Amino acid sequence: MEFDDVLAARRMVRRYRPDPVPPETVDRIARVIRKAPSAGFSQGHRLVVVTERATRERVAELAEESLYREKWLSVAPVLMVLGVREDDYHDRYTRPDKLIDGKELEWPAPYWWVDSGAFLMLLQLAAIDAGLATGFATVRRKEELKALLGLPDDIAVVGVVTIGHARDDAVPPSDTARLRAMRKPFGDLVRYESWKDPR
Ligand SMILES: Cc1cc2nc3c(=O)[nH]c(=O)nc-3n(C[C@H](O)[C@H](O)[C@H](O)COP(=O)(O)O)c2cc1C
Repeated sequence: MEFDDVLAARRMVRRYRPDPVPPETVDRIARVIRKAPSAGFSQGHRLVVVTERATRERVAELAEESLYREKWLSVAPVLMVLGVREDDYHDRYTRPDKLIDGKELEWPAPYWWVDSGAFLMLLQLAAIDAGLATGFATVRRKEELKALLGLPDDIAVVGVVTIGHARDDAVPPSDTARLRAMRKPFGDLVRYESWKDPR
């Protein structure tokens, strides 16, 4: 695929057909986890792949699907619950090759969250490559979701990735128009050489 086509296809989709995704495709997408970048190769990413209907419905409920205009989380045939284990970073950065003056790095940013975002993007790209669409939903009822999926205490829930076949009307023109109207000017986001020098 041309990069411009990938970029255009990378939308957060909230309208899916219920048709199942073949297990080997689901597995191919999940396996990008082992190719995802991570600080110091800490590999704190975790994923729970949910395809069973009853569990998907419960995950959708915990992600407060009823707050949306229409159902989408329970319609998508595949849900991937994204988690991260921060302790993997502390474990890694207290190993001898990572110590700075005998101490763990003072984290310039919480790289476990950074890495999770990079992994989310990789999942989206893998799904696009498989001809599928993805979405992302915030979960506030995180502890209930962890209990449902058996996630241990040391894994934080980042959110839920929906994966499936996009409906023909997957991205309503009104949504695209709304985003276009909200899109910040390039110059508000990027400056060349110095932030003080807008061009
Ligand atoms: C960290 C993160 C959290 C998001 N949470 C939600 C969410 O809870 N529900 C939702 O419908 N979309 C959510 N989105 C999708 C954004 O609304 C979407 O990316 C944005 O509107 C731009 O649309 P686009 O990605 O299709 O270009 C989230 C995206 C990110 C990266």
